[in-house]
Amino acid sequence: MFLSTNGTKIYYDDEGQPSGFPIVLVHGFPLSHEMWASQIEVLKSAYRVVAFDLRGQGRSEVGDGQFTLEFLVDDIIALLDHLKINQAVLCGLSMGGYVSLRAVERNTQRVSGLVLCDTKSEADTNETKLGRAASIRALKRSGVEAYADTFLKGALAPTSLKDRHIVEMAAKMIRQNQALGLCGTLLALAGRTDTTSFLPKIQVPTLILVGEQDTITPPEQSRRMQSLIQDSELHIIPQAGHMTNLENPAIFNTHLLKFLQDHARS
Ligand code: MLT
Repeated sequence: MFLSTNGTKIYYDDEGQPSGFPIVLVHGFPLSHEMWASQIEVLKSAYRVVAFDLRGQGRSEVGDGQFTLEFLVDDIIALLDHLKINQAVLCGLSMGGYVSLRAVERNTQRVSGLVLCDTKSEADTNETKLGRAASIRALKRSGVEAYADTFLKGALAPTSLKDRHIVEMAAKMIRQNQALGLCGTLLALAGRTDTTSFLPKIQVPTLILVGEQDTITPPEQSRRMQSLIQDSELHIIPQAGHMTNLENPAIFNTHLLKFLQDHARS
């Protein structure tokens, strides 16, 4: 289904139990809602599960290609309003975590819990911004297919890179994106705010998950977030790099389900 908001059509799936506690899944860059397939499968018997494509990625439109991370937060709130969801648990991976942290900072009353996967609160360093510029150049020069290969080499753990199923699944999602949408998203990532000063103010139950071999948002950054978010829980996922939910879904889902059983209640 599509929601028209702020000049763009946002694709979303609304699955599971209509009266169940709502969980909103926010995907990472440069993927789509499809990355959550295995989580939707285990959550849908007990929860209402909303998975959507961030503006510029997946099946959502890119519009004119000019947007910031604030627009992505606006889109989540518009989606919650459209679906008449007053409060939800936000579960975001990497970029999805940046968006979720900014969403709870701006709209505290709409978020009842956080699952922060392979993510961080810090804004981009100068070095990272230069990396974004190089990625934009590469996307314009060589296209999305070549970018998918480069991205996956940096994102997946060495053992996952040898697993054809994982590589093909992730590469297929990346290839479905348009270069314009990915370039716009890279600019939005480079221009996002730093949410670190908000971490001690988070009042909702928070689960932090990170792959033990994540080199994009290493476990050290998750440990720092955990030390700043009161009563938060951290688990390091073995045999996983930056895409923990795809690389080790069994362990990822066990922690996710346990956290929701403990905390996601109306
Ligand atoms: C992601 O997985 O969403 C990206 O790697 C995040 C980033 O590049 O900062």
